[in-house]
Amino acid sequence: MKPTLSPGSLGDYPQSMVRAHFNPMGTTALVTGASSGLGVGYAHALAERGADLVLVARRQDRLEALAVDLAEKYGATSTVIPLDLSLPDAVPQLVEDLRTRAISVGSLINCAGFGTYGNFVDADAQREMEQVAVNVGALTALTHAFLPDLLKTAISHPHGAALVNVASTAAFQPVPRMAVYGATKAYVLSFTQAIWYETRRTGLKVTTVCPGPVDTEFFDVALNHDAAFGRFLSVDEVMATTFDALDRVTTPLHSISGTQNAVLARFATLAPRRAVVTVTGRMSAPGRTG
Ligand SMILES: NC(=O)c1ccc[n+]([C@@H]2O[C@H](COP(=O)([O-])OP(=O)(O)OC[C@H]3O[C@@H](n4cnc5c(N)ncnc54)[C@H](OP(=O)(O)O)[C@@H]3O)[C@@H](O)[C@H]2O)c1
Repeated sequence: MKPTLSPGSLGDYPQSMVRAHFNPMGTTALVTGASSGLGVGYAHALAERGADLVLVARRQDRLEALAVDLAEKYGATSTVIPLDLSLPDAVPQLVEDLRTRAISVGSLINCAGFGTYGNFVDADAQREMEQVAVNVGALTALTHAFLPDLLKTAISHPHGAALVNVASTAAFQPVPRMAVYGATKAYVLSFTQAIWYETRRTGLKVTTVCPGPVDTEFFDVALNHDAAFGRFLSVDEVMATTFDALDRVTTPLHSISGTQNAVLARFATLAPRRAVVTVTGRMSAPGRTG
């Protein structure tokens, strides 16, 4: 016999559109890159939903100021851990530090990252390797170190555990003049989608967030604004995209901020690779505006 579903139950809607409020209340979320831009946005959004925070980046003064802000605004407790994630010992050090403090990580937001701009032949090799170390190495090591804790939290706090890895629309195609950056973000997208599948029946919410250009310090760090294409998003818009994804029963594998960015990412996925790299090569040319 067909089961009877009450109004408003899951049976009334397509499963992927149903809201399941992501509720990290009573858990601790670790946010990397919390000294600036999107990381600050994630820290606020998680504290607003009742999480305590572990804040990681190199600039301690900024992390401490953020911790005070989060305590005043939401009553959140933050643990500040200044750390250079490009260093090989950074993640083991962080894991040990949190173990000593008896802090269990319920959600992990891998947001720290940076890009460089220019033809690869002219690039500073050390800086490019740091980019791989932060965008890929640290993100992978952190995911591996904390995934068991996240899975335990998914059981103890249903709808309260998440893994959010921040990629970019750069993940969908090669990006001339940001060759290493595009490749690191393609890695983040592919890696996180695989983890999404492996953990799909555990209750852990896993997603990759792919913003287009956002109004943060990112392009100052990359020392060039020529690679930005289209309208700059606000940090709030990226937060809305992220938490819209986390609030769904079936968390999408990835979510793209901005309609134009979503259309371009789709084009990049479907069009011949040569055409795609030619277009992105023109778009990232020095001196181009708009
Ligand atoms: N803004 C954009 O247009 C855009 C678009 C798509 C994707 N994204 C991605 O979004 C993420 C956040 O970037 P954002 O836009 O918020 O840029 P941002 O304002 O420059 O913030 C980058 C964050 O990463 C941290 N970070 C960089 N290197 C680090 C290191 N070696 N060790 C520890 N932390 C490090 C920085 O902290 P410290 O300097 O204090 O260490 C900072 O908190 C990045 O992964 C970026 O690739 C940005």
